[in-house]
Amino acid sequence: MTDQTKTGAAAVSEPVPASADHKAFLDVRDLRVHFPTDDGLVKSVDGLSFQLEKGQTLGIVGESGSGKSVTSLAILGLHRLGARGKNVQMSGEIWLDGKELVGADPDEVRRLRGREMAMIFQDPLSAMHPYYTVGNQIVEAYRVHHDVPKKTARKRAVELLDRVGIPEPNKRVDSYPHEFSGGMRQRAMIAMALVNNPELLIADEPTTALDVTVQAQILDLIRDLQKEFGSAVIIITHDLGVVAEIADDILVMYGGRCVERGPVDRIFYEPQHPYTWGLLGSMPRIDREQTDRLIPVKGSPPSLINVPSGCAFNPRCPYADVPKGNITRTERPELREVGSRHFTACHMAQEDRTRIWNEEIVPKL
Ligand SMILES: Nc1ncnc2c1ncn2[C@@H]1O[C@H](COP(=O)(O)OP(=O)(O)OP(=O)(O)O)[C@@H](O)[C@H]1O
Ligand code: SF4
Ligand SMILES: [Mg+2]
Repeated sequence: MTDQTKTGAAAVSEPVPASADHKAFLDVRDLRVHFPTDDGLVKSVDGLSFQLEKGQTLGIVGESGSGKSVTSLAILGLHRLGARGKNVQMSGEIWLDGKELVGADPDEVRRLRGREMAMIFQDPLSAMHPYYTVGNQIVEAYRVHHDVPKKTARKRAVELLDRVGIPEPNKRVDSYPHEFSGGMRQRAMIAMALVNNPELLIADEPTTALDVTVQAQILDLIRDLQKEFGSAVIIITHDLGVVAEIADDILVMYGGRCVERGPVDRIFYEPQHPYTWGLLGSMPRIDREQTDRLIPVKGSPPSLINVPSGCAFNPRCPYADVPKGNITRTERPELREVGSRHFTACHMAQEDRTRIWNEEIVPKL
């Protein structure tokens, strides 16, 4: 039996569409973002590919330091910011609506930012200016891309604040960010991000700092707005539970790479990668006692400077010793198609994965 038949599918280095000419609305191909540091080259993103169409939501999930934020900053052209970003090395392709951004003029990317793509950050205070009213900031964000009088832009700001659920938007438009509660600030930032009707919206841990009830409200809001505006949405989180209801597809990142990607139902009900199993086991469950809820994946994330050869999850993987034919530990698992639009990067044979999932993992979830 060949390695290929053992794993049940042909190896592909990346899940790009059958036709290299067909480009999804957002089409990221073999993206690498490396930062030279005194300690060595930090390979924050190391060969990431994915596609996203308009009207679809992709959840990017992974532990702290797996490269989620760097991926989104790179799409928006913000990865060079700060002293540490100056010497960044970036390669691959990012196609947005047919335009390639990695090789594009930074001014062109800046023009697209805010107009065609916008970002919601975890901490609105860091994204909003403390000395300007919320309304003024939305007005300015609008007028950068639209040649309209302030009055028109202000009307748009009030409409949007109303749309994102800010009470008395006519009055609150003149408030400063610190006069808003955390949830209201997050709503205001969503309004600011949406002011130019962006076709791609990236929300990086949009609810992490909020309490559970407000979290649910903000996720509902993002889902409603996505339906209304038909934009493509990326939601970044370390918690699979956050994207369970809202995402169409999920991409699981580990050590700067994608280890599993697929439609949300497949990731929840037929996940194929041991790290995804670990993430599912660490999800909060309302039907369990608090103490039983979180079973974090044991061990720590890999160093992105000295990424081990072979599977980066190997040191933490409970199934590293399951026999894998003549595949050696130093061989890096590439993404393989394991179902319709479902890819995973693990050397284990399909029958072993299916058996372990059904017999060992499911009973514990
Ligand atoms: N400008 C930079 N220079 C050097 N290393 C960087 C830089 N930006 C990010 N990194 C490193 O890249 C890795 C990935 O960072 P990133 O912020 O993308 O992680 P993340 O998955 O978003 O984590 P978190 O869940 O904590 O937000 C980290 O090890 C981080 O230290
Ligand atoms: S390739 Fe091996 S070490 Fe990596 S996830 Fe699969 S079983 Fe675990
Ligand atoms: Mg992050």
